[in-house]
Amino acid sequence: MKIVHISDIHFGEELVRDKVRKAVRQINEMDPDLVIITGDLTCWGTHHEMRDAYEELSNLTPEFVALPGNHDARNIGYEYFKLYFGKTKKVLDFEDFRLITADSTQPDIDEGHIGIEQREWIEGNIKKGKINAIALHHHIVPIPETGRERNVLIDAGEMVELLIRNGVSFVLAGHRHMPYSIRLMRTHIIHAGSLGSFKILGMPDHNYNIIEIEDDKISLTLKFVDYGEVKIGEYSIHTTVPESVDIYRRIAKPKKILFVSRRNACRTQIAEALFNRLSPHNMLAVSSGLEPAERIDDSAKALLAELGLNSDRRPKKLPEGEDFDLVVSFDEDVNADEYWKVKSPENLDECRKAAKEIERRVRDLISRLIAWEYPAKAKPF
Ligand SMILES: [Fe+2]
Ligand SMILES: [Fe+2]
Repeated sequence: MKIVHISDIHFGEELVRDKVRKAVRQINEMDPDLVIITGDLTCWGTHHEMRDAYEELSNLTPEFVALPGNHDARNIGYEYFKLYFGKTKKVLDFEDFRLITADSTQPDIDEGHIGIEQREWIEGNIKKGKINAIALHHHIVPIPETGRERNVLIDAGEMVELLIRNGVSFVLAGHRHMPYSIRLMRTHIIHAGSLGSFKILGMPDHNYNIIEIEDDKISLTLKFVDYGEVKIGEYSIHTTVPESVDIYRRIAKPKKILFVSRRNACRTQIAEALFNRLSPHNMLAVSSGLEPAERIDDSAKALLAELGLNSDRRPKKLPEGEDFDLVVSFDEDVNADEYWKVKSPENLDECRKAAKEIERRVRDLISRLIAWEYPAKAKPF
């Protein structure tokens, strides 16, 4: 599969029309499977610039898809963009390749932003087993030597994590008129320079990218309109890089634990109290009973007081509709993620022994929960 990636044409006052016309002829001759234009088709987003872009780009014979850049979102340009180039968020499928186009623009603001809803939409459209690529205008990682290295998406961190977590094969972007590519774990981030603007930074000529996907490889070539081409590199798509991003997410995730038994009168109460004393504050335990007793056992009350824990507690019913990250049962016939075999104490002395065992298990549970990946949620019954 062959993709031509062009960007930042800037129809309007910056345009060098001859270069664009020549590139269109070259691309038609190359006959790629797809042409992707990663934004800034215009300078000011005005309808006459948009119309001009539409008419010139209609000379492309291969299928092409365009998404808006910050310049296209100026002066209600985002409306004209849709008029001439259709929806800004698209999913295109080609056998084992899927392209997801995203809109990183905000009306009349140069900074890029994807936003939580669009990130969820992107993530929902990533297809396992396919080569997934995401196209957008702005930078996810800074590009050196562009004068504004920090000009990245506001939510670049979230996007980096999304790419890595989902093993997105590559990203196509534009914006700073500097062709550039960098590998980020399993994702290759590829920027096109400017095809049409006189602002080509330090490049010798107006330029675009040619990307070829074959089996497990993508190859990237930087094509100059009048000065030939340079092969940038060839990369393996399916690399195996150890992943760390999920671990941080799991550590930071709040964890809610339910201790459950029939009566919620002793062991589950002790477990709840001990867990909440010993755990970090992004974890919380609650306890409840399937058939809660009237009040907690006297021995449990005495034991909790001995340990300096709040003994003024009451057995509770199962909370309705609450989700828990882990359910621990103290009664073997109560279905849960874990069953803790701790004998139900009959007097204060047995209660002290049970509390020791519960504390040992609680400490072990907390250390497992710190960066734990949860099993399927179980409901106690
Ligand atoms: Fe641009
Ligand atoms: Fe831009």
